[in-house]
Amino acid sequence: MRVHNAVVLVTGANRGIGSALVTAFLERGATRVHAGARDPGTLAAVTAQDPERVRPLALDITDPTSVSSAALTAADVTILVNNAGVYAMGHLLEMDLRDVETVMNTNWLGTLRVLRAFAPVVEGNGGGAVANIISVGAFGGTPSMGAYPASKAALNALTQAVRPDLAPRGITVHAVFPGPVDTDMLRLASAGLPAMADFPRATTADVARAIVDGIEAGAEEIFPDPFAEQIGEEWSHDPKAVERRLTTIA
Ligand SMILES: NC(=O)c1ccc[n+]([C@@H]2O[C@H](COP(=O)([O-])OP(=O)(O)OC[C@H]3O[C@@H](n4cnc5c(N)ncnc54)[C@H](OP(=O)(O)O)[C@@H]3O)[C@@H](O)[C@H]2O)c1
Repeated sequence: MRVHNAVVLVTGANRGIGSALVTAFLERGATRVHAGARDPGTLAAVTAQDPERVRPLALDITDPTSVSSAALTAADVTILVNNAGVYAMGHLLEMDLRDVETVMNTNWLGTLRVLRAFAPVVEGNGGGAVANIISVGAFGGTPSMGAYPASKAALNALTQAVRPDLAPRGITVHAVFPGPVDTDMLRLASAGLPAMADFPRATTADVARAIVDGIEAGAEEIFPDPFAEQIGEEWSHDPKAVERRLTTIA
């Protein structure tokens, strides 16, 4: 999939990995990037990079009306990047079930909702690509990270399940498994997880460029930073070792 002249939608584009993805797609020659955010007022710095090519888009992936309205507005999309996500710390047996629901409703159901709305759009534009930002956390249930690993494991299964459905419609599907990336999410999560303090942190810019490289290369699995590559390699021959590594973080 060539990014040059593509029209991209990035969900959760106002900060973190999403904001860096907008920059990476612009660098690689995308014609237009729709920058999705719950509050488009938070997109000023992102759109200022290139006001002609970056279009702010109101998009709350948990809100069906917001998603269908975004699919009408961004009707020229050929590459969809499902980046928006949340986490909530806590142990599954004790934490507030409403926090569990929010994580599953955003990371899994919200992503599916966006995918269902935009698959016909991408197909109607001649085909393209979908990249789902999962996490290496999908490979093991870190106890204190609540529903986050479960939501990402479910997102991985969703990604695998839609790949054969979308292939005949001319849409490639990419599963992205970042390791720790220096964003608000990681800073807040590691505050409650001292074991993560020593983990190497990739920059959002490096990770975003590696994701764009992976989409262009047609990689079904993208491990966009050195820690992720290491986990991916270990997981391919010893998934139990990865499970042990991730479940003993805390
Ligand atoms: N950072 C890491 O170490 C890491 C590692 C592996 C995977 N990931 C994944 O990478 C993705 C981006 O994470 P990040 O680290 O960049 O986190 P972040 O800085 O916390 O950004 C999360 C983004 O998702 C948006 N979002 C949350 N709920 C939304 C909703 N209902 N509708 C639309 N947008 C919503 C946020 O918007 P608001 O500003 O409105 O909250 C924000 O733009 C997530 O899927 C995350 O799970 C991150």
